[in-house]
Amino acid sequence: ATENKAVITLFGATGDLAKRKLYTALFKLYQKGYLADHFALLGTSRHEMSDEEFQKLVQDSIKDIEETRNGEAADFSKHFFYKAHDVTKPEHYTILKDRIAELDKQFGTDGNRLFYMSMAPQFFGTIALNLKKQGLLSDDGFNRLVIEKPFGRDFDSAKKLNDELSKTFDEDQIFRIDHYLGKEMVQNIQALRFGNTIIESLWNNRYIDNIQVTLSEKLGVEERAGYYDNSGALRDMVQNHIMQIVAQLAMEQPVSFTDTDVRVEKIKALRSLRVYTPSEAAANFVRGQYDAGNGTEAYRDADGVDPESGTETFVAAKLLFDNYRWSGVPFYVRTGKKLADKFTRIDVVFKKPLIDIFADPRNESDQSLNSNVLTIFVEPKSGFAMQLNAKRAGQGFTTQPVNLSYLQSDSDKKEAPEPYERLFHDALEGNHTNFASWAEIAYAWKFVDVIRKLWDIEKPQFPNYTPGSMGPAASDELLARDGRKWVYRL
Ligand code: BG6
Repeated sequence: ATENKAVITLFGATGDLAKRKLYTALFKLYQKGYLADHFALLGTSRHEMSDEEFQKLVQDSIKDIEETRNGEAADFSKHFFYKAHDVTKPEHYTILKDRIAELDKQFGTDGNRLFYMSMAPQFFGTIALNLKKQGLLSDDGFNRLVIEKPFGRDFDSAKKLNDELSKTFDEDQIFRIDHYLGKEMVQNIQALRFGNTIIESLWNNRYIDNIQVTLSEKLGVEERAGYYDNSGALRDMVQNHIMQIVAQLAMEQPVSFTDTDVRVEKIKALRSLRVYTPSEAAANFVRGQYDAGNGTEAYRDADGVDPESGTETFVAAKLLFDNYRWSGVPFYVRTGKKLADKFTRIDVVFKKPLIDIFADPRNESDQSLNSNVLTIFVEPKSGFAMQLNAKRAGQGFTTQPVNLSYLQSDSDKKEAPEPYERLFHDALEGNHTNFASWAEIAYAWKFVDVIRKLWDIEKPQFPNYTPGSMGPAASDELLARDGRKWVYRL
């Protein structure tokens, strides 16, 4: 492994994400040698804390990871330092500036600086502006910004935020996190498509009938009601994760597998996504909110949720791309909380043979052939399955669906880095492939804004689905109307 040298400044160092994901990701990079002697992390948040207390917090966060050598966790934590900070006070940035300069010298990080924002989004802009104004950027190494979601709450606020960031950082210095892009099987979409003639040559409206993307969650809103009730599934999952997955499914082959070339194609794909009129939006989007049932309380009764909340915890939609490859092929997507199970999968449904020569001509209802379906299992299992038709063994001639499948072994899965480990490393390397560019985010918001506006005006009939189901009946009707069904159903 080549060592990455940098001082990382983390805003939100005592937050939930830092404790659950970021320190473990950094520790894994340390175990693998991507981080070694020449890195330091300066944590900040409003709370007062000593370096020692912070190092203890970091050690606690990583205590479940096995050490590969004795004392490794303790050595790792010695790279962590802390300064309390009020992001609205310019003079506090001077304190950070001096500390960063000291750490740079002490750890020999060659002037490389990575700023990571993992805190209340209303401060993202202020922090970025102050980083420049108070001179926290270095002149000799790289200056990069990693920024967590949410990136705005509609196009206008996202644009405003982006304009603020742009005063300090160029596009190629900004890394907007979408952790779904760090998932092994989301990255595998590209290998599957562009590494296999038998897949990519059929990847268009001549052979594909429809594509289905499901991001299903079993948990409810849990402790995040304050954020979630103001956001809803459309902003929380569709605008970012689903749009990014769909862009990878729909895009053309990049000239090469580099971040700039991949971005160009994703942007082009999102540009051809049909932005609905309000009446099209009403016809092609379904929203839901979970009721009580199956041993859990209704969303509206959860702690911190408005008892008359109109926030959606479920979305299903039909998306259309207006381009030569996809014209006429619906992309059905859905996501929700308190559904039957926790999983993410993509089902690509191929067209049936135009004529079924095996069907009994005397019996019109005899339709023996099934659609070929390519399923990409993203999580919890990772792999693909291809459903084909084959002859049923025995006398006579009938067909039956058979499955070819590949699932990653447990040891493969252990090898695969967690999204945050991978994304941290990419950012340290300066590789943008698995981050969302501003243009992608902008197109995604413009598409989502139409739906949001409509939903903000019209009062929903909530609650409308039972925990443990796959969402409201309208989600099934969305496909039934087109003579189709969700491949995954209960
Ligand atoms: C986050 C959302 O972006 O993704 C959460 O804010 C959601 O509401 C989570 O639960 C799902 O991520 P994963 O990796 O568990 O599928």
